[in-house]
Amino acid sequence: MDIKSEDRLVRLGDLQFSPYITSSKIQARVRELGQQIAKDYQHTCPLIICILNGSFIFCSDLVRAIDLDSEIQFLKVSSYEGTSSTGEMKMAFDTLPPLEGREVIIVEDIVDKGHTIHFLHQLFLKKAIASLRLASLLLKPEAYEYDIPIDYIGFEIPNDFVVGYGLDYNQKGRNLPDIYTLYKE
Ligand code: IMP
Ligand code: MG
Repeated sequence: MDIKSEDRLVRLGDLQFSPYITSSKIQARVRELGQQIAKDYQHTCPLIICILNGSFIFCSDLVRAIDLDSEIQFLKVSSYEGTSSTGEMKMAFDTLPPLEGREVIIVEDIVDKGHTIHFLHQLFLKKAIASLRLASLLLKPEAYEYDIPIDYIGFEIPNDFVVGYGLDYNQKGRNLPDIYTLYKE
């Protein structure tokens, strides 16, 4: 690695990360997803469920890229500690509006093993909603252990740990405008 790219490494606690997806690439892809969703949900008012904490930035950009009336709610779910998924789901802010007859879109930052999305999918399918679709900025296909289709995917990425644009390493790095991947020396 040359000195210039070494300069762009970011340190978060005990780990270093290198630039991976630029903010302008992310913004362009989010606009495309927003246009696709607006087309798919014409004449409806989807209920967008933002999964905290990781998807707060993606979701706020995405809803502004969807040129439709929509409603937004927040649900806090976590299964991650450090750089790996525990598989054990913790949920907070679980007071949702009436879901009956709603067109629901769940917005995640990243689908890794898929425990979180599987848990949410099960939870929402028990409600009398009209439809359910899943959106995720990132998907790690090699890690994904379920066959629930992710309807809107920003980028498919290798099975490496990433941070930035809402994604964290032990709560740090969420504010980085670009996405970074774990730097292996
Ligand atoms: P899953 O349940 O194994 O799919 O993990 C999904 C959740 O773990 C995501 O919503 C993220 O909060 C977190 N996560 C998974 N992979 C990463 C990563 O590479 N960086 C940061 N957080 C991640
Ligand atoms: Mg998350």
